[in-house]
Amino acid sequence: MTEENSPTVYRSDYQPYPFTLDAVALNVELDENRTVVTSTLSFTAKNAAPADLVLNAEDISLDALHLDGQPLGADAYELTPDLLVIAQLSGSFELRVQTTLDPAANSLFMGLYKSGSGFFTQCEAEGFRRITYFPDRPDVMSIYTVTLSADKEKYPYLLSNGNLVSSTDLPDGRHQAVWHDPFHKPSYLFALVAGDFDVREKTVKTHNGRDVLLQIYSDKGSRDKTEWALASLERSLVWDEKRFGLELDLDRFMIVAVRDFNMGAMENKGLNIFNSGYVLADPDTATDANFSAVEAVIGHEYFHNWTGNRVTCRDWFQLSLKEGLTVFRDQEFTADMMAAGLDDQAAASARAVKRIDDVSVLRAGQFPEDAGPMAHPIRPDSYESIGNFYTATVYEKGAEVIRMQHTLLGAHGFRDGMDEYFRRHDGQAVTCDDFVNAMEYVYTKSHPQRDLSIFRRWYSQAGTPRVQVTMNHDAAQQTVTLTLSQQTPLVGVEKIRKDFVKKPFHIPFAVGLLSADGQPLALNEINDSASQLNTPDPKGEHTRLLELTEQSQSWTFTGIATKPVPSLLRDFSAPVIVQYEWTEKELAVLAQSDPNPFARWEAGQALATREILGLTNALQKGEQAALSETFVQVWKNNLQDAGLDAGYRARLLTLPSEKFLAEQMDPIEPVWLSRARQAVRENLGKVAATEWTATLQDNDTPGTYSPDPISAGRRSLKNLALSYLMAAGDEAACQQALVQYQAAQNMTDCMGALGAIVNYHHGDKRQEAIVDFYEKWQHNPLVIDKWFALQATAADTRTETIRGLMAHPAFSLRNPNRARSLIFQFCINNAEGFHNQDGSGYALWTEAVLALDSINPEVASRLARVMDNWARYTPALQSQMKSSLEQVRDHEGLSSNVSEIVSKALRI
Ligand code: TRP
Ligand code: ZN
Repeated sequence: MTEENSPTVYRSDYQPYPFTLDAVALNVELDENRTVVTSTLSFTAKNAAPADLVLNAEDISLDALHLDGQPLGADAYELTPDLLVIAQLSGSFELRVQTTLDPAANSLFMGLYKSGSGFFTQCEAEGFRRITYFPDRPDVMSIYTVTLSADKEKYPYLLSNGNLVSSTDLPDGRHQAVWHDPFHKPSYLFALVAGDFDVREKTVKTHNGRDVLLQIYSDKGSRDKTEWALASLERSLVWDEKRFGLELDLDRFMIVAVRDFNMGAMENKGLNIFNSGYVLADPDTATDANFSAVEAVIGHEYFHNWTGNRVTCRDWFQLSLKEGLTVFRDQEFTADMMAAGLDDQAAASARAVKRIDDVSVLRAGQFPEDAGPMAHPIRPDSYESIGNFYTATVYEKGAEVIRMQHTLLGAHGFRDGMDEYFRRHDGQAVTCDDFVNAMEYVYTKSHPQRDLSIFRRWYSQAGTPRVQVTMNHDAAQQTVTLTLSQQTPLVGVEKIRKDFVKKPFHIPFAVGLLSADGQPLALNEINDSASQLNTPDPKGEHTRLLELTEQSQSWTFTGIATKPVPSLLRDFSAPVIVQYEWTEKELAVLAQSDPNPFARWEAGQALATREILGLTNALQKGEQAALSETFVQVWKNNLQDAGLDAGYRARLLTLPSEKFLAEQMDPIEPVWLSRARQAVRENLGKVAATEWTATLQDNDTPGTYSPDPISAGRRSLKNLALSYLMAAGDEAACQQALVQYQAAQNMTDCMGALGAIVNYHHGDKRQEAIVDFYEKWQHNPLVIDKWFALQATAADTRTETIRGLMAHPAFSLRNPNRARSLIFQFCINNAEGFHNQDGSGYALWTEAVLALDSINPEVASRLARVMDNWARYTPALQSQMKSSLEQVRDHEGLSSNVSEIVSKALRI
């Protein structure tokens, strides 16, 4: 598709479909190059007056068309490349459509495609129209019966949604399976799979005592890597029953792993299809991070069965209805798993680790998006290509908006709201407003004076609000007054929409106060409008929740004799940026004694940010700057605070990411920033060498590998210590890294050592290790992805190295995981290499975007987004980035996907 035939779609243009689709019968005769699809659709007009029947299409041709058994001549319908329209139909009728597909030639991995030796489908958002002519929109739901046939030897397994009705042998070595899905679903949840697989399965009982069969299908020979996936699936079932009372509604739930996949995974009803990177995990080949990602994505897709499938979206503008809510649910699932079996205080620290990780992802990916040319509310108002709106905003900020409702209603209120939502909408395709209505119904019952009308602005306004805080201490009255004011600049399309007036948000803002020596103070408010949080208070945090709903509001607390230190936005209670002028000493107090573990981490990050940005400035001017004593002392103290869990301590001691830091710079100087961050790391490695060495020795995890959060935390702290020491050029650590690489009993330790060697070791051993690793793992694609990624992000890697690796026989642009591991990793996570003055990084980007675009536009447009914030970079880079964008924009035959991204970027 080109730009011309991809007009902007507006949310306000929504019209209900004029027909119900009572049943779908699909017959798919699978063949590598000539798959024949016959679909029989039973429609009934909703109104007495006749209406046009509009069916979508993409890249398919019409072989035959029958209406109520009669062939339709070409004059009986209108056919364009993307639409089939039959005018003026009424009553009930049956349409039969036949199409022929070439799955082997489908490099987009949307619709029906081949990967390895199997057939797979991907239909969200608009892939079903690449299989057959169809009302391909989420508010048209139907009951599907699917008949699959294929060569029996090559494709012994034939899978689709729901329950297996029959399997039979056919002539010519073929066989057939019939599947029936008893639940109404939109076309985007359809799936089929055919191939030969290893299967791991288990029958479990639901809380109502029903037996359900859980199955994991993966490539032949990979069964020993699916134990964790199956266990994660079982935990997901139990968790959704316990926390939300939601039971699996099918007799059978299947997950299939595939190597070629555009995203993480897909929640097709009863037949989830997963990127193999989110299924396969064993200690030898998967890191701790991989294990937890597998668990999180399995949870995510499973939880969609209720939030997404049983209740689905009316149109794609409502995407956050299912995605924001399901991300929130998977975050809570992971947090509950991490806290399982721990005492209150340890549980709070485990949950804080998860919160820190989630907030870091939000700040690194969503904050820049919300400040750039693609900024959009979690419920967008328009799009050109829906594939471009599976964004950090819809997913991660969407989850924050759900989390704020959870905070405002409390855990019990939120659960009641969810129950109400399912009572009202089970089986329907609904809107974000419908969700908030259900929550509001519960909220107003317990808070009679309040509603969620201001809160709803989170769905219609974009941008990250800035909350400026001032604190006034009145020594005579012994009171403290906190004043909060909010400001949200116009962003993205808001800037070009005339008369767009931005209104204040409803911001739940959790605060605490500490004495100057770090003791938590009880908060007694004069008017008592701030609410106590409905969460456990293991350390006497005394957290109060302020609800900012106007531009500016104040709260006064009594009985506070001396000037306290404010602890703000505890647990990141809203997706905002806090502005408060803490002194360095105050931050040091918070970073060492805030009882709220999230806020404590936040204060440490603020201190480190000051150091790194200060040094960036100095380096640019050719100056040096020593680390501040206070900062070093905080780092050392936290490093030695044995009362803290290792995983939490590792987060405390990790420097803020380059992406987070870049957000605080104007203009962005990526190379200086990267060097400054590196220098701070090196310095901390030197000044605390003794402490780091002790930490390295103390956090070994001998014995059988287990991915549990306690052991994973120890490994992350140990490997962090190793990298600090190696950054500082510590000889002993360098030897230790080589030993650890050779002796590693699991992939986490292996990668921890190899990463440190590749980044910091300058002798022959570096290249030896790279070669050794490749030879050892060359037959495992997921491990080789890591090998490419490690080199792509290594400190001294430049474009030539990337070009060399692109010529490696194991490299291919066609496999999305491989393209991501090398090209995306370089462009996103190697500032010095990508932003090289000579423009070689940008030239590589231009070539890669165009090459990918002709293979797979969905993947290409994700790479295109790397240049979103070009206008915020230092002038010399800015102009080069701009001309790269123009080069892509002007390329003939550019997809509508990439076109939308680059033209919006250049519009700024
Ligand atoms: N709905 C999926 C999820 O969030 C993701 C998804 C959307 C997807 N579109 C896709 C996956 C296209 C693969 C390809 O879980
Ligand atoms: Zn999802």
